[in-house]
Amino acid sequence: MATLRLGDEAPNFTAQTTEGEINFHEWLGDSWGVLFSHPADYTPVCTTELGTVSKYTEEFNKRNTKVMALSVDGLASHKDWIKDINETQATTVNFPIIADEDRKVSGLYDMIHPNADSKHTVRSVFVIGDDKKIKLTITYPASTGRNFDELLRVIDSLQLTQYHSVATPANWNNGDDCVIAPSISSEDAKTKFPKGFKELKPYLRMTPQPNLN
Ligand code: BEZ
Repeated sequence: MATLRLGDEAPNFTAQTTEGEINFHEWLGDSWGVLFSHPADYTPVCTTELGTVSKYTEEFNKRNTKVMALSVDGLASHKDWIKDINETQATTVNFPIIADEDRKVSGLYDMIHPNADSKHTVRSVFVIGDDKKIKLTITYPASTGRNFDELLRVIDSLQLTQYHSVATPANWNNGDDCVIAPSISSEDAKTKFPKGFKELKPYLRMTPQPNLN
């Protein structure tokens, strides 16, 4: 399987999950999606990650984004481990976890990096847009737990820039000023950005975030 790149269609699959058999594209429907893998059940970092994601349900819902996890362990193991996650992280895991024992989905998404670990998935993250296209990929090693605030921040940027002619600068957070896309002339920017803009250089123009009142 070739590496998946930004703009590619997210491969569809049908998989066994802790919430029953799921067809990925049907499950996504019109939502955005996050598909993320972790190396193994009953491991400490993964336990904190899945607990954290379940606590962020409201944040993902606000962004019309569904979340699905994956590891190559089996269903019985996932279901038993969820009890530990719920207990130790004081939460209730409320998203499906794929039991990818035959490594079908990990293969499709290139989640096994043999020079890091020949048998287990690394910490891959795919953000999938409401058009089923891949909008973001990030890969972390097993030893580093992910920053899910960063994931929400990127989804905010992806959703903003999909509908407005802006891009988001370094360390941007929702509510901060944005940069005007280089494709927009300063003449057009006057009508497109009624809140105004500051031209620091002809190619560097800052405007208040357009989708806020
Ligand atoms: C963990 O989730 O804690 C973990 C998994 C694999 C290797 C190292 C840490």
